[in-house]
Amino acid sequence: MRVFDRLEHLYAIGGGQGANRPHASPAEDEAHELAARWLEEAGLDVEVDPDGNLIGRAGERSDVWVGSHLDTVPVGGRYDGALGVVAAIEAVERAGVGSVVAFRGEEVGWVGSRALVARGATLPSTFVELHIEQGPVLEQAGSPLGVVTFIVGWARGELVFDGRAGHAGTTPMDVRDDALVKSAEEILRIRDAARAIEGAVATVGELTVEHGAENVIPRRVRLSVDARAPDSDRLDTLLAAIGLVPSRRTGPVAMDEELRLVLREEIEQRGLAAVELPSGAGHDAGILAAAGVPSAMLFVRSLNGGISHSPDELSSPEDIELAVEVLTDALRRVATSL
Ligand code: GLV
Ligand code: MN
Ligand code: MN
Repeated sequence: MRVFDRLEHLYAIGGGQGANRPHASPAEDEAHELAARWLEEAGLDVEVDPDGNLIGRAGERSDVWVGSHLDTVPVGGRYDGALGVVAAIEAVERAGVGSVVAFRGEEVGWVGSRALVARGATLPSTFVELHIEQGPVLEQAGSPLGVVTFIVGWARGELVFDGRAGHAGTTPMDVRDDALVKSAEEILRIRDAARAIEGAVATVGELTVEHGAENVIPRRVRLSVDARAPDSDRLDTLLAAIGLVPSRRTGPVAMDEELRLVLREEIEQRGLAAVELPSGAGHDAGILAAAGVPSAMLFVRSLNGGISHSPDELSSPEDIELAVEVLTDALRRVATSL
């Protein structure tokens, strides 16, 4: 199936184990160039906007957008983002209406979709993003497809711990001021703070240790913190418990009721249960929805227990074909009735 060949082509870019197309890398550029060729083959009008987002427009209802992103986390999976773009090309080509979008830099803070909104560009009238679930809910429910209710709120920022540099061999343990030891204690506190709040999560994913030498006591450590919660109150409580003043933040964002209904009906018409679920991951659909664009997300069941941001990320060909069909029919309906 063409969708899989294309996912393999994208996966091969950057080489090595896993998908490696970080934002602003030659690999992200190469993925966009490849996708631009597929858009041309599909007979769409191709444009790269001032922020590097790729858009392929059909002749009719090009204000209705479907798509996702092509960048990945380091050593990511085949499906996160790429599936939504490849599926969108299928849907627009099959339906003959709408536009495909591939946003830049989703994984590093929704760079492309935020820039689109920030520069006051004409936004789509509607946005539908197909995405792998990246969690276990659909697999546990035995359902291939789901419809997103809302995207959780998130906040990101940095905590800095200072200590005193010293000799690793000559400084007695009881007189040390080791910034990394302080950070280690803090990371455990962050974990416990998130555990204490229903539905909240918090992650320290990056550490910068100064001066980063085997035989020097660390003098300064920077921790990245990613904190998420289902509603603003819980996010505030979590941030207060962590002591983080975030540099970036968005509240929870609801998906559009009417579009959700269209997706649910399309799923149910195929004799399947339409599971509704929130998204713990952030998405470009959340950025557009927060900017007032009616937006919706169709989730495809993740296998392997829902693992994602990992090369073990997996969805089945059958589930993906079903999702492409639902997306195509939803696009047709939206283009003719909304
Ligand atoms: C995007 O993948 C996110 O971090 O939610
Ligand atoms: Mn994604
Ligand atoms: Mn991701």
